[in-house]
Amino acid sequence: MSDIENLKSELLAQVEAADSLQTLEDVRVSALGKKGAITAQMKNLSGLEPDQRKAMGQALNALKGDVAAAIEAKKEAMADAELNAKLLSEKVDVTLPARPETEGFIHPISHTIEEVVAILGEMGFEVAEGPEIEDDWFNFTALNIPDDHPARQEHDTFYLPGEGTNGRKVLRTHTSPVQIRTMMNTKPPLRIIAPGRTYRCDYDATHTPMFHQVEGLVVDKSTHMGHLKGCLIDFCRAYFGVDDLPVRFRPSYFPFTEPSAEVDIGCTREGGEFKIGHGDDWLEILGCGMVNPKVLENCGIDSSEYQGFAFGMGVERIAMLKYGIPDLRTFFESDLRWLRHYGFQALDVPNMVGGLNP
Ligand code: DAH
Repeated sequence: MSDIENLKSELLAQVEAADSLQTLEDVRVSALGKKGAITAQMKNLSGLEPDQRKAMGQALNALKGDVAAAIEAKKEAMADAELNAKLLSEKVDVTLPARPETEGFIHPISHTIEEVVAILGEMGFEVAEGPEIEDDWFNFTALNIPDDHPARQEHDTFYLPGEGTNGRKVLRTHTSPVQIRTMMNTKPPLRIIAPGRTYRCDYDATHTPMFHQVEGLVVDKSTHMGHLKGCLIDFCRAYFGVDDLPVRFRPSYFPFTEPSAEVDIGCTREGGEFKIGHGDDWLEILGCGMVNPKVLENCGIDSSEYQGFAFGMGVERIAMLKYGIPDLRTFFESDLRWLRHYGFQALDVPNMVGGLNP
């Protein structure tokens, strides 16, 4: 029996001394494996007297259990130690300032779209999307702009090869076709905004061939001009951050709305300095109106049951006004110095709780 005691203390010492999972495994094999020390003793049992065999068998089984438990405990301790070391080496001090190499900036267009989405999202609008390569029908005809309509010429359209009004593809000249797609695909009530790229063949200080718009559309049974006015007045005041900003609705014409209006905000140019707010001057910032019943019908919506309002605005225009960016073309010149000046920190995500420009 003292042999067993010796073997036990020898094996336990080996377990204790193991300094890696591999050496621990070696100890396990040399003790409990097929050719291991304990297994060898087990094989000798058959040569013993029954009494001795019983006592020895029990002692060996106890030894086996003790050694296996010691190995298991050591394994766990090693895994714990390894995890602790890893956690220690990966420790991050979250109070450190942002890493100096994060030099990216959010482009003013992306930031402005996020602001618009934050304001109108809070009012219950959902973001909708449509393709930039659009069917002529969605871009014009369904919006009550037939083939011979003068508005087609005004849009300086990029046409893609193809025949006829319905077969022809265009680069969408405005985000209004998203209204059509939404009305055709979703049952009213509808409340959507559609930010995105638009294209017109024009280039000077106030026009680029690609620019951005945000479209808005509300359709419901009792939607009226009062809702349109309330929504857009609140929007303008929130976006420009001027609580008492004067907002004016001036009668206008769009084929897809009836009646139509253009929205002006108050401003001053006193002393050569331009400022948004109370003043003696007005500045146009968006177009809007009640959805023309013909457009509702083109989308399969019963205009005797439903009515709606729509609006559309240029993202570059409202960004230039708010952030004092003088030339539209600079938006797309990919000049890093410009982006460092006019861009936004990645963490400055606009929202209505923290403020639009934290
Ligand atoms: N689609 C018009 C444009 O590109 C903007 C617009 C005006 C959209 C009035 C509308 C609207 O939805 O009601 O000039």
